[in-house]
Amino acid sequence: MQRAAPQEFSRVLSSMCTEPHPAARDAAERFLATNPGDPETYQEVARLERRAVETLGEIADLSDPHGYVTSGGTEANVQAVRSARNRLRVEDPNVVVPESAHFSFTKAADVLGVELRRVPTDDDHRADVDAADAAVDDDTVLVVGVAGSTEFGRVDPIPELAAVAHDAGAFLHVDAAWGGFYLPFTDHEWSFAHAPVDSMTIDPHKSGRAAVPAGGVLFRERAGLDALAVDTPYLESTSQATLTGTRSGAGVAAAAAAMDALWPDGYRREYERVAELATWFAAELRERGFETADVDLPLVAASISEPVFERLREEGWRISRTESGELRVVCMPHVTREMLTAFLADVEAVHAAGPEACSLSGDVGDAR
Ligand SMILES: Cc1ncc(COP(=O)(O)O)c(C=O)c1O
Repeated sequence: MQRAAPQEFSRVLSSMCTEPHPAARDAAERFLATNPGDPETYQEVARLERRAVETLGEIADLSDPHGYVTSGGTEANVQAVRSARNRLRVEDPNVVVPESAHFSFTKAADVLGVELRRVPTDDDHRADVDAADAAVDDDTVLVVGVAGSTEFGRVDPIPELAAVAHDAGAFLHVDAAWGGFYLPFTDHEWSFAHAPVDSMTIDPHKSGRAAVPAGGVLFRERAGLDALAVDTPYLESTSQATLTGTRSGAGVAAAAAAMDALWPDGYRREYERVAELATWFAAELRERGFETADVDLPLVAASISEPVFERLREEGWRISRTESGELRVVCMPHVTREMLTAFLADVEAVHAAGPEACSLSGDVGDAR
């Protein structure tokens, strides 16, 4: 039988996963048969996890971080909601998130029995602080700000949202699952040093170039993590704060190895490359008649008609759209100028194929 092979990355434009760094790939293979969920038995991978959390803390400007390497951004967000709910113990808890928040918060609300209050974003797809302020009440346990939104790469006003959260007696969580490895090289205010952030999601398996699965959750205070701990009678270790039990040592080792290899200079170089690439690509699309949203973090959102989108998918491009219909191209480490030049050539070919296949309609602002 033929051996199954994974997809190549040469036509993957909308995914937030990427080629792992070679050191991460190597570490993942070596640590395949380890379980950081039982740190007394698997001590070496536990040591690597402590190192990974230290480095995630450095990236996010937190000197004494409490956290762990999760299975991904979803688990990290679920755990942030769970921690806030467990710490505040109000009768009818609610969480306030911007409309741009990732759907993992919908899952969190569902499994944890908290109400999810989604508040509008402004014209630039950033959380509307006044709307968040109007939505909080005495039962709010968490306010969420996104630092690198999934659809438009936007960074919410984190210090202002922190003030809203704390005035209401709630915690402030920053979802930097994707943006966290780019933001240190920007002027954005997003980190534990910029605002009284209580917890953060920051995923090595996205722009951090670890192997999947390797997300990250960080808490400013020990109590944030402790609020998640349960007793573990049959293990060598006696308590566990993670959501999953047995976990991937491959992901943990890959995260530590990728960050050892790339933080900070490798990530800085990568950010500079993709920032320039995204700006160039947006300009090329505009020249061809597409409306594009302003580029902030390296993600390009552009209006595109259904037929053009479908034709490009038929050509093998792995692309997706925002909820309001824009094409989204995420400039991940595997995305190069050559790839995007080939994509643009296919866009032109589709355009040349006929009027019904190329009505580049829609305005990014109005499409919402
Ligand atoms: C901002 C943000 N948060 C959370 C997630 C969920 O991460 P995961 O797919 O690793 O669970 C994503 C995924 O793209 C994301 O973009």
